[in-house]
Amino acid sequence: MKNQSVILITGANSGFGLACAKALAEKGHKVYGTYRNFKKAEPLFELSRSLPVFPIVMDVDRTPSVQKAVSLIFKKEGRIDVVINNAGFVMAGFLEDLSDEDLKAQFETNVIGILRVCRAVLPIMREQKSGKILNIGSVAGFASLPGLGAYSATKFSVNSITEALRMETRPWGVEVSEVNPGEIQTSVVQNARMGKKVMSPQSPYTPFTRQFEEVSKERFKKAAPVEKLVGVVLKALEDSPMKRRYLVKADDYATYYLRWLLPDALWERGLGVMFPWSRFPKI
Ligand SMILES: NC(=O)c1ccc[n+]([C@@H]2O[C@H](COP(=O)([O-])OP(=O)(O)OC[C@H]3O[C@@H](n4cnc5c(N)ncnc54)[C@H](OP(=O)(O)O)[C@@H]3O)[C@@H](O)[C@H]2O)c1
Repeated sequence: MKNQSVILITGANSGFGLACAKALAEKGHKVYGTYRNFKKAEPLFELSRSLPVFPIVMDVDRTPSVQKAVSLIFKKEGRIDVVINNAGFVMAGFLEDLSDEDLKAQFETNVIGILRVCRAVLPIMREQKSGKILNIGSVAGFASLPGLGAYSATKFSVNSITEALRMETRPWGVEVSEVNPGEIQTSVVQNARMGKKVMSPQSPYTPFTRQFEEVSKERFKKAAPVEKLVGVVLKALEDSPMKRRYLVKADDYATYYLRWLLPDALWERGLGVMFPWSRFPKI
């Protein structure tokens, strides 16, 4: 990666985005970190007081907001070298409980949001004949979990978008890759949304959803620190060319390889041991 690269990170007011903004700015890069709610953006503004971090408003659900932010950066810098498509959230709930609105909201941010940002930056990157786009996928993008089916569907989509886009943009020297982290300590669980029907007394899935919620909170307490992810992101951006995908922790590697190696029945049995909510009793 060039010295003093101009970097855009979406969803940079917390979690991965904030930690990556700090690490990249400490290396001397100019980081434009996006936020959408001023009340939640104080940690990003705090960083901007001591490092080359520039908070900028962007809601990836809205095309004008994405275009405005990208053109502001381009007007100021004349280039955009790196984009980290990080903004995202979890729509938790068993699939039958999720409405069309819940599903649309999940895809709007996690999938179409990434494509909106790509459509805004790619003309700039193609013109400058260079650029790196790093999408934040998930282990859930190659191993779907009950209770996280909608989220997994979006991260599977990120997987296929990355695969197509890296071939589509190669002629212009634009590199596209993806990081697939497993559980890492951020506010992702607290920021997770649930559909209106999820946890309702009428839903047959409510006892499982409750179990799912408890187990996920427990698992996240033991999750790896965010520095693990930051190290991998820094390495990915330094690589030339970037690899197709970057995994983060030993258990993420195990999940990745076992998912492909094991027959489906064995895989599902294994999941039942790791995640009790996937070992449903027969009703
Ligand atoms: N933590 C994990 O274990 C884990 C594992 C695998 C993948 N991931 C992925 O990593 C990414 C970052 O998550 P995180 O763990 O850092 O969680 P987080 O702390 O909740 O951060 C999510 C960020 O995305 C922003 N965001 C959400 N919807 C947005 C929208 N429509 N427009 C612009 N920004 C939006 C949030 O802004 P607000 O504060 O305004 O909501 C926040 O800044 C997500 O894509 C997530 O799916 C996380």
